[in-house]
Order: sequence, then C-alpha cells, then structure tokens
Amino acid sequence: MLEWLIFLYLLSMFWLFLMPQTKEGAVLGVGTRKFIVWIALFPSSLVFSLEYNPKICRWLGYVKTSSSRYFSCYSFSTFYLLCCILLFLSFCMFIWLRVLFPTSRHIKYLKLAEEATNSLPSVSSGPHIIRLMSYNAFCRPPGIAGDNGEDFKDERLSLLLKRIGYLDIVCFQELFDAFCNRREAFIEASKLLGFQYECFLPRNCFRIPPRIIDGGVTILSKFPILYTNYIHYRHCVYSTVDSFVGKGCLYARISLTPTCYTQKSSEDYNKNSKKEMRIERAQYLHVFSSHMQAGDRIGYPHESYHARIRIGQLEEMRDFIHWNIVDDDGPVVITGDWNINARTSMENDSDSFWYQDLLERLQDSPSSLYLLQQKRAQYFQDNTIRNLCLKDLLSLSHHGRHPITDGTKCIDYVLFDPRKGNLHGATEGTLKTFIEPFRVTQEEKKMYSLQLPNTLSDHYGVVATFVNDYAAK
Ligand SMILES: *[C@@H]1O[C@H](CO)[C@@H](O)[C@H](O)[C@H]1NC(C)=O
Repeated sequence: MLEWLIFLYLLSMFWLFLMPQTKEGAVLGVGTRKFIVWIALFPSSLVFSLEYNPKICRWLGYVKTSSSRYFSCYSFSTFYLLCCILLFLSFCMFIWLRVLFPTSRHIKYLKLAEEATNSLPSVSSGPHIIRLMSYNAFCRPPGIAGDNGEDFKDERLSLLLKRIGYLDIVCFQELFDAFCNRREAFIEASKLLGFQYECFLPRNCFRIPPRIIDGGVTILSKFPILYTNYIHYRHCVYSTVDSFVGKGCLYARISLTPTCYTQKSSEDYNKNSKKEMRIERAQYLHVFSSHMQAGDRIGYPHESYHARIRIGQLEEMRDFIHWNIVDDDGPVVITGDWNINARTSMENDSDSFWYQDLLERLQDSPSSLYLLQQKRAQYFQDNTIRNLCLKDLLSLSHHGRHPITDGTKCIDYVLFDPRKGNLHGATEGTLKTFIEPFRVTQEEKKMYSLQLPNTLSDHYGVVATFVNDYAAK
C-alpha cells in the first residue's frame, strides 16, 4: 500500500517535471525543476529508508518488532502518521506548484509582449517627453467575475500588453495578485516593452482585519524607481469586502536623470546644479497611486457614509505624500481611481461638490506639521512645508470639464504639482491629457472571443504627457 502511494506520488512528480511550464519557472529563486526533484525525492527517500533500513531505525531509537513493519498500513505508529503528513504536505505543494507557478500564462504573455516590441515605434517621443497613464485594469482576484461568470481577464491583459508600449510610466489599479500569478506574468512580459522597474501595493495579513488581498495598485516605469513606500488606509468600511483588500496609497520615487538627459545636457545639469542648489534638491519625480473605498453609486443608501470614509482616506494620502516628498522638491503626480465623481451628474460635467472638497483637502496643510518641519530642516535651510498646489490635468485639458472615465462618472485622476522641478504637464495641443478607452476591435474579438467586452476595462485610461523643460532646451 505505502509502496504504491510512493510510486503514484513519484509518477505525478515526474509528470510535473516534464511539463513545459516547469522548465521556465522558479520557486523561491530555485529553478522549478530542481525544486520538484527535491520535493519528490526527499519525502519518499525518508519513508523508504525508515521502512527498509533497520540501521536508520535503530539510530533513531526505533526498534523493529517481530510482528509487523513500521509503516505497514495495518499497524499504526507515530512514524506512519508523520509520513502521511509529509506526503500530504508534498501533495499540497504539488497542487500549489501546479496552480500557481509558471504556467502557460507567463509564456503566453511573454510571447505577446515580444510581438508588441516588434511593432513599437522605432523613434521614441524623445527624452524630454514623459507619458504617464493611470488605469483601472479591472482584473480582480480569480473567482470574482461579472454576472456571466467570465470576465476575460487574461484576454484583456494580453490585449493591453500590445498597447502600452508607447507609455513611460503606468499606474494600474485593480491589477490583483491574490491567489494567482496574473500580475507577475504581466510584469515579466512588460519588461520586454521596456518597463524595467515596478512596484506594487502588497497585502498585509497582520492587520485587523487582515488585508489578505493585495491593494491591486501597481506602478510600472521605464525610468528607474529609486525608492518605494506605501500605506494601507486606516479608514475603511468594515462591512464591505474592501476591509480585506489592502486599499492604500503606493509611492514611487522615480529618477528621470540617467535616461532622460542626454550626455551633453546632463553635464549642463551638473554645472547648473552647482550654481543653483534648488535644482539639486528637486531631482525626482514623485508618483503616487491609490485606489479608494468603493461604493460610489449615486443613490446608494450608504453613499454619504462611504464618501466620508474616502475623505478620511484622502487626508491619510495627503499626509503620506508630505512625508515622502519632504526631502526633495521635485514634481508630484497623484493618480488613481478614487471613486469620487468629479462630475455633478451623468449629464452635467462641471465640478461636483465632492470634487471641490477633494481638492481643498488635498491642498490643505498636513497634520503633524511640526514633525514634518523638523524633518525638512535636516535637508533644507528653509523648513517651511508648502501645501500642495495641484493641477487637474484631465480637467484643464478639457476646458475645466470632467470627461467620463468610468461608465457615467469621472473617478480617475491625474493631479500634478510641478513644485520646483523642470517638468510641466501639457494641457494644450497634441500633448494634452486625454482619455484612452482601449477599445477592442472586431478582429480582436474574432481572435479571442466574441463575448469580449467593447473596452479592455470598465474604466478608461487617463494619459498625461509631461514635458521636461530642461532636457528640451
Ligand atoms: C451643472 O451643475 C452645476 C452645479 O454643480 C450647476 O451650477 C449648473 O447649472 C449645472 N448645469 C446644467 C447644464 O445643469
């Protein structure tokens, strides 16, 4: 009986070993194949040696009785139990490997990204243009899908891969990692498109309630991310699923210098920085991205309660931003799906009450001002903490109106404060901030499935272009 179990176990491991996706992947930094050999041989050899080698048994202090073998199914022993546990654990490992680790998804995404690199424009937009997008990708954890039970997450992400190559920085929301490797595969493939740097908002199981699902916020960048930080919001509606999701704000400190300045202009830059200290201390682009409490439907009974929670989250975000930018006066970009409708209503696209409130609060002075001043004094002679002075690039590019980004609402934001940096957000002409709906073409539907939705997500992307005045000169 035991021999048969081990035989079956080894057989399944062998099958796993031969699978193509096993060849490509890695578990905890070890190649998946090596890993499988290890988990296949270790428990079975242990069981075998204990079963058949009296020396090892004696060495372990177990004496063989005349009546039966230690591990025979008819005699119960602690060792037998132990082996069962081991086998069970290995079996779990097997399932885990099978389901979670480099599956065909990685391979499929990589192939698509490779195809996409072939069609990338050969001339990039130039070192002085930086394109940033905020996008709610609508890829919730597995098992959570629309009414029809299938929301084509893989198909939509694959199509997305082909379209983001022209961007430099992408801030995703709802690109979840929980219980699957979708995000991992996506990030790996996007590296082929030039997004060499990434960071994401992790889960945190040690909070009350535990945030067992990660925040779904991910920032991809072609420019180096030098430092990243995050918070999970204290404010949240405990009666909703959101209390288990690590909703919060993610920060990426991005260095534009190495890739952005050409050799000559970087010399200029250094020369200049000796003259002007302020440029030296305004060298990074500070990117923040957040996904806030859901429940923003108009007429929803608890709408105002949820809105108050979001206001709390906004204030947490503002303080978080101030703490992270206290040592550098570079430009700040705040992005994300905040679930706060900037439009008055479906028909009326002028500033809503909540939108005005949002801007006011974000530009208010942070709490713990005194501590911040002390921190700033370590870096600057002048320790005044300046409030954020934000420009809503989307609205400024649309004559002060708020175009729809999600169904009937405008809840995706790209706010910008140039501070003392050299960037400015374009709001006019061809470079102005625009809505990227990511429509699915008829050919794409034919290729994947006719049931594919008309756009890649229920949200549209918001693409902002920044011009680096210094590099442009
Ligand atoms: C749109 O809403 C604003 C208030 O938010 C109001 O002043 C304005 O008259 C409305 N416009 C129309 C066309 O209803």
